[in-house]
Amino acid sequence: MPNITDEQVENYLYAMLPPRELVLQEIERQAKERDIPIVGPAVGRLFYQYAKLINAKTVFEMGSAIGYSTIWWAKAVGEGGKVHYTDGSRKNADEARRYFDQAGVADRIEVHVGDALEVLSERKEQFDILFSDVDKHDYPRVFNMAAARVRKGGLFLTDNTLWSGKVAYAAGNPQLSKPGAGDKETEGVVELNRLLYSSADWYTTIIPLRDGVAVAMRL
Ligand SMILES: C[S@@+](CC[C@H](N)C(=O)[O-])C[C@H]1O[C@@H](n2cnc3c(N)ncnc32)[C@H](O)[C@@H]1O
Repeated sequence: MPNITDEQVENYLYAMLPPRELVLQEIERQAKERDIPIVGPAVGRLFYQYAKLINAKTVFEMGSAIGYSTIWWAKAVGEGGKVHYTDGSRKNADEARRYFDQAGVADRIEVHVGDALEVLSERKEQFDILFSDVDKHDYPRVFNMAAARVRKGGLFLTDNTLWSGKVAYAAGNPQLSKPGAGDKETEGVVELNRLLYSSADWYTTIIPLRDGVAVAMRL
C-alpha cells in the first residue's frame, strides 16, 4: 500500500513509537509475514488515546482479523470494560483468542464469529465506541447503523478512509484517473466520507495517519 504521507515523514513517525509489549510485536510480525492488513502501532496508539479521552468502557469492533486492534481497545477500556471482537473467519478468531490470553485481556473481550453487521444489528445497547474495518463496500451500510449504536458524545471510527489516496481520484477531478478508482470498495469509502461530513449526527475529522482514520463524534 502506498503511503498517504511522504515516506520519510512516515518513517519518522514510526521510528518515534515506544516499543510495544511482546504479544503486539508478535502480531505485527505475523501480519507482515502473512500480509494481514492490521492498523499497526501508530493507529493503535491513536485508538488508545481516543478511548481514554472519552473514558470509553465499551467498544464494538467490526472486522477484527487476528485481534491486533482489539488488544489496543481492550487495554484502553481497562478492567471492567468490554470489547466486542467480530470477524467472519473462525480461524482468525481462534488465533486472536490465543493472543488475548497472552495479553491478559481475554476476560474483557467477547468474541463473535460471523457477519459483523448482523452481529451488531442483533444487539440493543449503545457503545462508547464503534470501530469499522470491514469490507469497504459495506462502509455506507455501517454508517447507517452507527447513529443508533453509539451514545451521544461517543465515537465512530473507520479505518482506510483515504484508501491509498484512491478516494481523491474517485471523488475529485473526473479527468484524473488512477487504477482502482471507481471500483466498489473505493466508492464505498467515498460515500462513507461524504455521509460523515454531511450528517447532522456526527462531527468528523479524517486523520491522514497510515491509510486515513475517520474519527466522528456523535452529536
Ligand atoms: C483489515 S482486517 C481487520 C484488521 C484489524 N481491525 C486490525 O487492525 O487488527 C479486516 C477483517 O475483517 C473481516 N471482515 C470483513 N468484512 C466483514 C464482515 N462483514 N463481517 C465480519 N468480518 C468481516 C475480514 O475477514 C478481515 O479479517
